[in-house]
Amino acid sequence: MDDGAGTHGAGTHGAGRNGTGPDGEGAAGEPRSPRLVRRKTVLRAALAATVAAPVALAAGPALARDLATGGTAPRLTPPCDDGDDPTPEQMEGPYFKPNSPERTSLLEPGLPGTRLTVTGYVFGRACRPLTGVLMDFWQADANGGYDNTGFRLRGHQYTDSRGSYALTTIVPGLYPGRTRHLHVKVQAPGRPVLTTQLYFPNEPRNNTDTIFDPRLLMTVRDANGGRQAAFDFVLDVPQDPGPGPGPTPPGTTWTVGAAYRAGDWVTYADLAYVCVQPHTAQPGWEPPAVPALWHPA
Ligand SMILES: [Fe+2]
Repeated sequence: MDDGAGTHGAGTHGAGRNGTGPDGEGAAGEPRSPRLVRRKTVLRAALAATVAAPVALAAGPALARDLATGGTAPRLTPPCDDGDDPTPEQMEGPYFKPNSPERTSLLEPGLPGTRLTVTGYVFGRACRPLTGVLMDFWQADANGGYDNTGFRLRGHQYTDSRGSYALTTIVPGLYPGRTRHLHVKVQAPGRPVLTTQLYFPNEPRNNTDTIFDPRLLMTVRDANGGRQAAFDFVLDVPQDPGPGPGPTPPGTTWTVGAAYRAGDWVTYADLAYVCVQPHTAQPGWEPPAVPALWHPA
């Protein structure tokens, strides 16, 4: 299947599977069991080491800024357990166009807006990464408008051999009736299309948008003058559990005095964190307290 056919497929297959998740409202207030270190955690650590760390390092001493923007770490995207539910579907909306250009950056000269990167993985039902997954993004510009004549802020890409993707774009603007969101179609080779939307935490309109689904919240932080977001997709693709390609979890617990490198991961209070800046752990630098050093995995 060539690029164009793949994008066409996203448009045609998605039409019959649109719809808001039936139980989106239920996920917001449910406490989650302690997150255990799983394959996804390790993979995200690897991604953090290769993608997020340089941005975090460039941002320098961002401890106070990160704490000030949210107070607490953004809500995590759903963990990927073997047998976990796939990423919920959402309506396509009126502005999808097939045949978007293949590109990982939607930035163009003169395009106004706050720079945004979105990174993550696409998994199957056994939490193993999926390669060659078509991901077709489209979104509003900084003023809340869609380009319906050309392909501005539209583009598709494919997950790499590790199942990861990376999108460079701008923060979408607001338009009447909706909270801030990105649109995406996600299609593993030979599989049905998942049409969905991604959301930003701490948006006032999240409380009033009738199709907003907290399961589709990205993890978003300030980074180097822009925004850095992460979201992992789980597609309804059957897989053998298998060993997976990730490194073996060392099972370390955060420890004062330990030297950590970017990409290292630890557990603290039963939660997993990924190191984003090299440092030696000090009392008071517990991972939940220093988002510039540790991100939730
Ligand atoms: Fe939209």
